Amino acid sequence: SQVVNAEFVKSSVRTADCPSDGLPEFALVGRSNVGKSSLLNSLVRRKKLALTSKKPGKTQCINHFRINDKWYLVDLPGYGYAAAPHESRLNWEEFTKDYFLKRETLVSVFLLIDASIPAKKIDLDYASWLGQNQIPMTIIFTKCDKRKKKKNGGRRPEENAETFQSLISEFFESTPPWIMTSSITNMGRDEILLHMSQLRNY
Ligand code: GTP
Ligand code: MG
Repeated sequence: SQVVNAEFVKSSVRTADCPSDGLPEFALVGRSNVGKSSLLNSLVRRKKLALTSKKPGKTQCINHFRINDKWYLVDLPGYGYAAAPHESRLNWEEFTKDYFLKRETLVSVFLLIDASIPAKKIDLDYASWLGQNQIPMTIIFTKCDKRKKKKNGGRRPEENAETFQSLISEFFESTPPWIMTSSITNMGRDEILLHMSQLRNY
């Protein structure tokens, strides 16, 4: 299930512009700054294949990366970026939700949740939307390397993850699979790649 070869293919602003070769894909989605692009780099063992930033709002399009010539990892813009103009926020909603509903080769959405802070309403809303629309989902808890801080609620990543799962359980018939990760220590990398290969059936 390891990545031998990863290449950037294209940036799209509409679902209709995405690659049309029919290869299966997995999309990384989550709040701005949650670590989507960093996770992608960790999975492919490259530092800068996907661009990352301390400032939220770095990724702006649907970015397709082809893995081992067989499947795609898709890096999406984040939601909940307060500084984004209202218009671009609406546009985000529209184009990512359109992508989730129409993209036939999408095997599963990987919803990234920051485990170093307590659950945010916008993440719960997003999980609820995915559940209502029966979009297959895996929860990826990020930043599990971060130590608990009083200002962040003083909880361990495991505690934040558990709370999040119980809060979203009502949105799903069965609890979605979940993986604890860190792009700094590469915790969870092999588990994610194995899970993706199982979802692809090879
Ligand atoms: P947008 O493209 O703006 O939506 O953000 P993103 O979700 O792609 O986040 P990105 O990967 O750019 O990371 C945002 C910041 O979080 C960067 O400063 C990263 O170095 C940091 N970061 C990402 N993953 C981790 C992690 O696992 N642990 C820690 N400690 N920091 C992380
Ligand atoms: Mg990004």
